Amino acid sequence: MSAALSLPSNEAPGLVIETDVNLKPYNSFALPAVARRLVRIREAADVRRVVDHPELGRAPKFVLGGGSNLVLTRDVDAVVLKVEIPGIRLLEAREDAWIVEAGAGVAWHALVQWTLDHGYPGLENLALIPGTVGAAPVQNIGAYGIEVKDRLEAVEVMDLVTGRPALLPAAVCRFGYRDSVFKHDGFGGLAGKSVITRVRLRLPRPWRPVLGYLELERKMAETGIAAPDARQIFDWIVAVRRAKLPDPAAIGNAGSFFKNPVVTAEQCRDIIGRDPGIVHYPMADGSVKLAAGWMIDACGWKGKSVGGAAVYDKQALVLVNKGDARGAEVVTLARAIQESVYGRFGIRLEPEPVVV
Ligand code: EPU
Repeated sequence: MSAALSLPSNEAPGLVIETDVNLKPYNSFALPAVARRLVRIREAADVRRVVDHPELGRAPKFVLGGGSNLVLTRDVDAVVLKVEIPGIRLLEAREDAWIVEAGAGVAWHALVQWTLDHGYPGLENLALIPGTVGAAPVQNIGAYGIEVKDRLEAVEVMDLVTGRPALLPAAVCRFGYRDSVFKHDGFGGLAGKSVITRVRLRLPRPWRPVLGYLELERKMAETGIAAPDARQIFDWIVAVRRAKLPDPAAIGNAGSFFKNPVVTAEQCRDIIGRDPGIVHYPMADGSVKLAAGWMIDACGWKGKSVGGAAVYDKQALVLVNKGDARGAEVVTLARAIQESVYGRFGIRLEPEPVVV
């Protein structure tokens, strides 16, 4: 009657190891690849269970969020930790800010909608960005004048060696343009060393709109709405993004494929001398950000393809999967673009997504 319950050898309580998992549905580029072993992380304690597991504990790990910033060129031998931690709640109502906490597995856009529905505005400019809440701080997602670092209170992580939790305040995350401590694996970097389990957002009170982007100004002029509320801005951002960016559910892609390069004022003057039309934005520190999409477009890449990988015809900064692309084709296309932009402008474009 009381026979000991024997667990299959590859399972620990609460931990299921799936084998040979097709990753195509789990990366927004819809590239084919197989994970030899995959574990779903549904709560922070699951990370602890992985660390304590006799085989998985020592094996290399690969943390997968929404897979929206990823180019898979081959099968993944490392143990894939697919982060699916749910939940959104108001943690604190401070006089100067709402603090909202969300599980790393929540879809980013669902969080933006939840905050607006509950009366905590401040994320509306970041509407419709694909991917999960846990991935947002990794590359410091940004759009229309706001980066997630501007709204981030702290990040909860689990250490992949000790299995212990830690709460990292925004100040230690070393945020930069599409960059953070979570992207680096060198000294002090946390890539491959920790899993983001929850994120705390700080939404300032009183709310102030972030306008000033050409597309938002255009909407204001068109509609005659001079003082839009957060919901109005959200609707505009959704419309603007839908008009020029492909929906990953319909056309595989990873958003902007390259970062906008930052150059010195002198380098910029030099390029303007040769290409007066180049779109550029002076930065507060005197440097200048160049529009990579404009440069790629100027080199004639819109609509061009390599196998199943193509340059999106409405935004040259976005590479898309025409249906049956392989990761290697995406990489070949990206390299050809880098070479042609370098040949014409002397600028090396840096990819935004992680290539595996
Ligand atoms: N442009 C062209 N041809 C193109 C693409 C762009 O001439 O094919 C010109 C545009 O007309 C515009 C300029 O280049 O004058 C910049 O383009 P856009 O406003 O579309 O923005 P972006 O610099 O290409 C960045 C972010 C986006 C973000 C938008 C809005 C990066 C790498 N990309 O794009 O983020 O949504 O600004 O803030 O910083 C992402 O990271 O995945 C992403 C979509």
